[in-house]
Amino acid sequence: MEPTILIVNGPNLNLLGTREPEIYGRETLDEIAALCADKAAQLGLAVDFRQSNSEAEIVGWIQEARGDAGGLIVNAGALTHTSIAILDALLACALPVVEVHLSNIHRREAFRRDSYVSQAAVGTICGFGGHGYALALEAMARIVNADGGGDEEA
Ligand code: DQA
Repeated sequence: MEPTILIVNGPNLNLLGTREPEIYGRETLDEIAALCADKAAQLGLAVDFRQSNSEAEIVGWIQEARGDAGGLIVNAGALTHTSIAILDALLACALPVVEVHLSNIHRREAFRRDSYVSQAAVGTICGFGGHGYALALEAMARIVNADGGGDEEA
């Protein structure tokens, strides 16, 4: 069976499409979820795409992923910059993590440059809008196939 990648979206990402479109674009979260499903199918992965405004719920999902998922793609929204609880959950779950942000967090306010999630991530993709999730899935496919001795082409 194909590995399932849990894609976790944090606070306010449910508002994509109408939320500060000059920064985050006009794509909705449902459209990004559909893009991820297509991309994952091409890559031989399954995705479980979720969003929550609650730090506690996100920590719970990451804990549950430990037994179930092959990896995590995380856009923790503002919790990226504040949540040691999410960092600890990511470290505890011991799965590969790819961090995503729609905006280029390094070109914005100084407080967005620090990411707790980065400390648990293999790498970060930011600044490419919704397309960043497709790039993250490509990166994850390579990581998962390298780990599992899959049939990735050279
Ligand atoms: C974000 C960047 C965060 O700084 C911000 O709080 C978000 C969205 C992004 O995807 O660009 O909510 O994670």
